[in-house]
Amino acid sequence: MSQLISDASEVLRLEAVTRQFSSTVPPAVCVVSLSLRSGELLSLLGPSGCGKTTLLRLIAGFEQPQSGLITIGQRPVAGEGHWVVPEKRGVGMVFQDYALFPHLTVHQNIQFGLKDKPVPAIQQRVQEVIALVGLEGLGDRYPHQLSGGQQQRVALARALAPHPFLVLLDEPLSNLDVQVRLRLRQELRDILKAAGTSAVFVTHDQEEALSISDTVAVMRQGCLEQMGPPELLYQEPASRFVAEFVTQTNFLTAQRQQEQWQTEIGTFPIDRLVSAEPTVGSLDTHAQIEVMLRQEDLQLKPDQQHGNAVVRDRQFLGREYRYRLQLASGQELVARTPVEVRLPIGAKVQPMIAQTSTLRAFPPQC
Ligand SMILES: Nc1ncnc2c1ncn2[C@@H]1O[C@H](COP(=O)(O)OP(=O)(O)OP(=O)(O)O)[C@@H](O)[C@H]1O
Ligand SMILES: [Mg+2]
Repeated sequence: MSQLISDASEVLRLEAVTRQFSSTVPPAVCVVSLSLRSGELLSLLGPSGCGKTTLLRLIAGFEQPQSGLITIGQRPVAGEGHWVVPEKRGVGMVFQDYALFPHLTVHQNIQFGLKDKPVPAIQQRVQEVIALVGLEGLGDRYPHQLSGGQQQRVALARALAPHPFLVLLDEPLSNLDVQVRLRLRQELRDILKAAGTSAVFVTHDQEEALSISDTVAVMRQGCLEQMGPPELLYQEPASRFVAEFVTQTNFLTAQRQQEQWQTEIGTFPIDRLVSAEPTVGSLDTHAQIEVMLRQEDLQLKPDQQHGNAVVRDRQFLGREYRYRLQLASGQELVARTPVEVRLPIGAKVQPMIAQTSTLRAFPPQC
């Protein structure tokens, strides 16, 4: 079992949870351990098929783990002989397609999970959550009379109404267009924080995970690759996979040449590079490593004569440009620069790295 320490403010705890659908395929969720404290918003981030929905379904009780233990609000709910049915777990669920009842009004959808309470208490709670999600005046409408963003808020209000320990949200914003999604993701965080509810939020959108969560858990092929605050994942990715998936960083091969690392865009003193994977030991033991260069760490100096990169593409992003560069070897780099640095396609540039940037490096990929 994991070494996680139980804590009274902990609302969710997974210990070495595994779910394998068939003996012929690898587990969809493989020995995952994590914990969530009261009021915290955790994102599960990872590519399609990495096990995010399966993990959420295990927590909700729609799947049973083959091994491991799941505890919600200090009560074991699955594993080691325990089983609590989904409706008794104190968990609210918000699905990608909202799953509202089409024949019920907003008010009726929200009160659906409050059946066992006295009528005045139900009415009061429905009004409270309608106000919390900003849907005042829309209580008598049916789902088809609402926009996608409004429907998503009804789904959230319905999940929050019974005061759950935990709300689970499976890609709740992915059906919305980009403008609504950007606005609603901040609102979603504000609503969950105002309700004081803990939440697990599934997404495969890096920016969404980094911007709304207290903690991000990056999954890969059923396993938890790294978990921590968004800033930590961005600044100190523990693996090349996290670096590529979370920060869409560049990698450049560096060869050891006595007291320097030589790359296609310049040389660096040996001690300028730090190991991004301390567990693999010192970088000194390698003749070749991969240096991580974030898009914003690259500075571009126009140099038509000696520049060793060519601008292949330029995208205007409002406050900055994103350049796609090609080096002589054919390798591509992506750089983001302030709009003042406007370079034409085809221009030769010299990519440089800010002196202040910490350069992290990984051993070569096997
Ligand atoms: N009921 C099932 N029976 C068999 N295999 C399943 C079942 N549910 C999921 N899987 C498999 O488990 C793996 C993880 O699926 P899951 O739906 O958890 O991924 P995901 O990370 O949510 O992906 P996406 O981002 O596409 O929603 C996939 O390989 C999937 O095919
Ligand atoms: Mg999914």
